[in-house]
Amino acid sequence: MKTRQIHLVARPEGPAAPAHFALVEATLPPLAEGQVLVRNQWMSVDPYMRRSMEAEATDLEPWPLHAPLNGPSIGVVIQSRNPRFPEGCLVESMSGWQEHFISDGDEFVPYLSADMAIARRDLTGGAQPQDFLGLLGVASQTGYFGMMCAASLVAGQTAVISSAAGTVGSVACQIARLHGMRVVASAGTDDKVAWLRDVAGADHAFNYKEVAFADAFREACPDGIDLVLESASPEHLSACLPFMKEKGTILIAGFVGIYERGGKVRNIDNFEYVLDRFLTIKSYPFMDYLGHYDQFVADMVGWRNAGKLVFREQHYAGLEQAPQALIDLLAGRTSGKPLVFLGDGDGA
Ligand SMILES: NC(=O)c1ccc[n+]([C@@H]2O[C@H](COP(=O)([O-])OP(=O)(O)OC[C@H]3O[C@@H](n4cnc5c(N)ncnc54)[C@H](OP(=O)(O)O)[C@@H]3O)[C@@H](O)[C@H]2O)c1
Repeated sequence: MKTRQIHLVARPEGPAAPAHFALVEATLPPLAEGQVLVRNQWMSVDPYMRRSMEAEATDLEPWPLHAPLNGPSIGVVIQSRNPRFPEGCLVESMSGWQEHFISDGDEFVPYLSADMAIARRDLTGGAQPQDFLGLLGVASQTGYFGMMCAASLVAGQTAVISSAAGTVGSVACQIARLHGMRVVASAGTDDKVAWLRDVAGADHAFNYKEVAFADAFREACPDGIDLVLESASPEHLSACLPFMKEKGTILIAGFVGIYERGGKVRNIDNFEYVLDRFLTIKSYPFMDYLGHYDQFVADMVGWRNAGKLVFREQHYAGLEQAPQALIDLLAGRTSGKPLVFLGDGDGA
C-alpha cells in the first residue's frame, strides 16, 4: 500500500521555509492482527510544531529528520483487523502529516499517547470531522480550559488577550464576553482587529504593530487589568504587568512570537509588579482538564449552534500544502484555525 508523507529534511535557523520539508512516497506493510489502516481526512498545524523543528525542544520531542512527522489529525478507518475500530469509523490521532497510517488501536490521549494511538469520534450535534481539530481541537481546549478552569471569570472585570484572533485567543475572547467580562484584545493586522471588534465582540481591539502595548492599555484599561491570557510574547506580558490590579492573574498559554527566534525568553520587564501587586502567573497543561472534555464539547458545540461563538477556519487543500499552512500560521498570515484537507476534492 503506497501513501504520501511530509518529512522534515533540514532544521531551520531562522523562520520555517518550504525547503525544510519534503513530500515523500512511502510503502505501508499489510495489517497484522489487531491493526487498522486509517485514511486521514484533515490535519492541523499548530505553533508548537515550530519548536518541534528544532534539534532540542523544551516541550515536546523534536521531530526526527527524514521520518514521518506527528500532529493532530482526523481520519476514517478503511481496513480493519480490530473489532473495536470497524471500517468506516472516524478516529482522531497524532498521526498528521501523512495520508494513511497503521494503528495498533491503542488509546489516544492528545500529546501523551503514542502517535499511532486512536480514539473514536462521533458526529453528533451537527459536528463535522474537522471540528475535532478546530472547534474541539487542542488549541480550542487550551482557550476553553484556560478560561473556564484555570481562571475565574467575573462579570465587569477586564481581561486582556494577546494573539486574540488566533485559535486560543479567539475562543478565550468570546468565552470572556459570554461571562460578561470587558475584553481588550490585540492582533497584528487591521483585518483581525476589525474581526475582533465586529464579530468576536471585543470591547477594545488594537493592532500591536501600530500601537504600543502600554499606550493601548492606558487607554483601554483605566481601572487596571484583572486577567491576562498570554499567547503571544514576553513583550506583551511585560507591558501588562504595570497595569495589573492587585491579586490579578496571568495565564500563559504560549509565546508564539519567540518560536521563530530560538524559543528562549530573554527578558521579562516590570517583574517587580508580580511582587508588589501579589500577582499569580501560571501556565497550565490543557491535559490536566480532560476530565471536563464532555462539558467542553457540549459548551463549544452548543455556543456555536446558538450563534454565541464564531469559530473561524482557514482551509488548505492537499498534503503538499501542509508546510505552507504552518509557515503562514507562524508569519501571521492565517485568519482562523489553519486546517489541511487530506481527502479527495478540496474539502469545501
Ligand atoms: N499549552 C498548550 O497546551 C497549548 C496548546 C495549544 C496552543 N498553545 C499556545 O497558545 C498560543 C496560541 O496558539 P494558537 O494555536 O491559537 O495559534 P495562534 O494564536 O493563531 O498563533 C499564530 C498567530 O500568532 C501571532 N504571532 C506571530 N508572531 C507573533 C509575535 N511576534 N507577536 C505576537 N503575535 C504573533 C500571529 O497573529 P498576529 O497577526 O495577531 O500577529 C499568528 O497568526 C501559542 O503560543 C501556542 O503555542 C498552547
